[in-house]
Amino acid sequence: MCGIAGYIGKKQAAPIILDGLSRLEYRGYDSAGIAVFDGEKIRMQKATGRLRILEEMTQHGATLPGVAGIGHTRWATHGSPSDVNAHPHMNEENSIAVVHNGIIENYAQLKQKLQQKGYKFASETDTEVLVHMLTEYYHGDPLEAIEKVMHRVEGSYALGILFLDHPHHIYAARKDSPLIIGESGEGRFIASDVPAILQYTRSVYYMENEEIACLSHAHTRFFNVDGEAIQKDPVTIDWDIHAAEKGGFEYFMLKEIYEQPRAIRDTISPRIKNGAIDLSEIQISDDEWKAFRKITIVACGSAYHSGVTGRYVLEDLARIPTEVDLASEYRYRNPIYDPDTLVIIVSQSGETADSLAALRDARSHGCKVLAIVNVVGSSIAREADAVFYTWAGPEIAVATTKAYSCQIAAFYLLALKLASLRAAITPERFRTLLDALVCLPGQIEGLLSQKEKIQFFANHYLATEHIFFIGRGIDYALCLEASLKLKEISYIHSEAYAAGELKHGTISLMENGTLVIAVATQDSLYPKTVSNIVEVKSRGAFVMALTTLQHQEMEKCADYVLYIPETEAPFMGSLAIIPLQLFAYYVSLGRGLDVDKPRNLAKSVTVE
Ligand code: AGP
Repeated sequence: MCGIAGYIGKKQAAPIILDGLSRLEYRGYDSAGIAVFDGEKIRMQKATGRLRILEEMTQHGATLPGVAGIGHTRWATHGSPSDVNAHPHMNEENSIAVVHNGIIENYAQLKQKLQQKGYKFASETDTEVLVHMLTEYYHGDPLEAIEKVMHRVEGSYALGILFLDHPHHIYAARKDSPLIIGESGEGRFIASDVPAILQYTRSVYYMENEEIACLSHAHTRFFNVDGEAIQKDPVTIDWDIHAAEKGGFEYFMLKEIYEQPRAIRDTISPRIKNGAIDLSEIQISDDEWKAFRKITIVACGSAYHSGVTGRYVLEDLARIPTEVDLASEYRYRNPIYDPDTLVIIVSQSGETADSLAALRDARSHGCKVLAIVNVVGSSIAREADAVFYTWAGPEIAVATTKAYSCQIAAFYLLALKLASLRAAITPERFRTLLDALVCLPGQIEGLLSQKEKIQFFANHYLATEHIFFIGRGIDYALCLEASLKLKEISYIHSEAYAAGELKHGTISLMENGTLVIAVATQDSLYPKTVSNIVEVKSRGAFVMALTTLQHQEMEKCADYVLYIPETEAPFMGSLAIIPLQLFAYYVSLGRGLDVDKPRNLAKSVTVE
């Protein structure tokens, strides 16, 4: 995610802001910038790359004198990493400066209207529309301008704003992206997260949605989006700095598991407009979509697992032949390329060597390549013909969670888009599926509240040497990911197995006490999965089943049952993976391992 830091008070602002941004570096970014009021004008400096570059350019802030300013570390979403796309953004008159964390979902329409009014855009960012809207609505009263913008903008934002006419104030506003206000004897602060200001103050205000703050060196006033003053109470932060970087979570992995509702919402919401799937930002026309006769998904690790789910939903809903392949295998099996095939490369980092090589191979044989990527401007994103960004934000833990969940959400959107274009499902079925899709983030939030039950179960299996995950169909795809999560952070051997395949050999490994986790969310396959549970139990296995709330009878045949809420069958994986991510996390935690940095692993495998 982007990081915001701002200060107004008795001290020089720039060094405080740069220090605050340095404490937000863990959030991941690709450029940085700062704007300070120097007594006459707003002066700004921006730089692509590490914060150190900006620090050197400004001599740690010495070249930007002034006691009021805002700063930003940018994680690119709209527009590649560059100086011009870095924040802050200023209007042509250099009278308003804005830093933004979040996604403006209706920025394209807003940009078009502003351009028709004659506003010139310098960057590719969604944020820049905010600067020109504030300019349009500003007639001397910053609050009035901010309120009008908030009433017209859709999406998520945490904002820091400077108005040249009001040099003794900085302004902040928030919707869905976190923003806090700090206060101390030296002044007032705005920040995306606690670490940025913890060394100056432990007294913070958490801004709520659609609140505005006006900070002077000695006072902070809060308003709602209708301009009415509101009273807020400060909170005292008792975390240490390391805990604060993880938002109070013990590890980034748990923080990122909890970020999944927001990440999925950010990935799907901007692509659902007026009851339809809008993928217009992807450089593939509807006619091209219709012309594809086959899809080949190529990836590694968890990204490959998301592709296994992708294949199920694409074939089930869009009725388009789909294959999925490990990138390290695909590029060496001399695949048969067909120009009517769409090759989809999935990658969180966008730098995985095998996946990048597969992309180049497919393109060299005339195939169109779509990349589903989380890192904007990464190699795979740049070399693909078209890019579908997952907006999970930076993922710090080596074991992926939120990026994987956003990848499967991307496949849901693609499957619904293609199903609609190919008339493979009825409009009623499309509507039902779309309604279920938008409910997923809320259902995941509900599942996350069950963490104690999962931690309890996990703590009974810390010493286990072998764990089997079994399921059928999409449940099997899910088992692949759940098994990898457990292996990579707990170092326990585990296997994912198609439940119907066990009897063809592997069931010989079942003995008294073998732990089997059976996933049974697909109603059409439920009876058969239950029979597989009976098979392994009759050979002594201990079975933890994961099923939906309507199957309480599962308690008659499994030893322990975890329930998930109902959703449409193709989307069950998004819910079932949550308890299994938590299971892996708590087993690793219980074994005293470094959950975020497992042995032998790297976050991005840039070598073959
Ligand atoms: C997943 O938890 C692992 N970190 C690993 O399997 C990862 O998914 C794989 O290396 C692919 O990485 P990518 O998505 O960045 O291409």
